[in-house]
Amino acid sequence: MNHLFRWRRLARLMFMLIYFLINVLCASQQTVQSETQQVKGIVGQSFSFQERVINSSNLLYGDLGSIANVYPGKRGKITLEKRFENRLHLNNVTRYFTLSDLQIDDAGVYTVENTDEGKKRKTFELTVYNVVSKPPVTECDSSSCSVVCSVHNEKEVTLTLYRGEEILNQTSSPDLTSDPSLHLEVEGKNYNSTYSCVASNPVSNETVLVPKCCSEHGHPDDAGKRHFEWKPSRK
Ligand SMILES: *[C@@H]1O[C@H](CO)[C@@H](O)[C@H](O)[C@H]1NC(C)=O
Ligand SMILES: *[C@@H]1O[C@H](CO)[C@@H](O)[C@H](O)[C@H]1NC(C)=O
Ligand SMILES: *[C@@H]1O[C@H](CO)[C@@H](O)[C@H](O)[C@H]1NC(C)=O
Ligand SMILES: *[C@@H]1O[C@H](CO)[C@@H](O)[C@H](O)[C@H]1NC(C)=O
Ligand SMILES: *[C@@H]1O[C@H](CO)[C@@H](O)[C@H](O)[C@H]1NC(C)=O
Repeated sequence: MNHLFRWRRLARLMFMLIYFLINVLCASQQTVQSETQQVKGIVGQSFSFQERVINSSNLLYGDLGSIANVYPGKRGKITLEKRFENRLHLNNVTRYFTLSDLQIDDAGVYTVENTDEGKKRKTFELTVYNVVSKPPVTECDSSSCSVVCSVHNEKEVTLTLYRGEEILNQTSSPDLTSDPSLHLEVEGKNYNSTYSCVASNPVSNETVLVPKCCSEHGHPDDAGKRHFEWKPSRK
């Protein structure tokens, strides 16, 4: 009697263990299937959700649910939400849902849900960026042979100072109310080097060449007074 009881308990434990393993395996497979692709868009440009739509499909957006749908025989308007009207199309060559004239607040999680047999889903997490602005460089302070380069701060903007190809310094500020800036002091021996200040974010970059303003001996150079006419020479 006692033996049978023990055996039953063991069997139940084994069953629980197998059940647990199957659950873990299925859960890990599910996370692979619903993997989210991180994608980036640029304000004013178009963005394509790269999942081919064959016959019928829904495009879902965040809490709104379905914002567009297509199915065989459907003609004309595919959008269901006013804010996407005239901006959301199904490209008839690539068969991708395409959102044009992107806005910052179009960011979020989109899912292309193909409702053909097989029901494939693909999820995209879209981040939208402005093109980075040109970093202004101050006039040369001729008494110290120095300039300051700064940039209007936005999401993930980095400012980098180069001498030739070499990075001298780099900064960014997660606090979007403060603009990153870098100070450059040109040493005499490097007076002839090319310095540049580069603002970048994940979708764009802008380079401004620092005017040459000091002479070999670290003294203010005449060029400093003319630096407004100074132009980068491209060879
Ligand atoms: C694809 O769409 C464009 C306009 O969006 C239209 O001019 C063209 O005829 C369409 N092509 C096909 C094959 O439907
Ligand atoms: C799409 O529709 C066509 C015609 O109705 C059908 O033959 C085809 O199997 C469908 N494809 C899918 C993936 O459902
Ligand atoms: C880089 O810039 C930061 C911020 O302006 C400054 O504190 C730091 O001293 C600079 N580093 C170098 C190596 O110039
Ligand atoms: C400084 O740079 C200019 C232009 O790149 C070059 O013509 C000149 O020879 C350089 N002078 C020295 C001392 O390297
Ligand atoms: C700057 O942008 C161009 C394309 O506009 C790209 O080819 C280049 O790699 C970028 N440079 C940096 C440092 O991000």
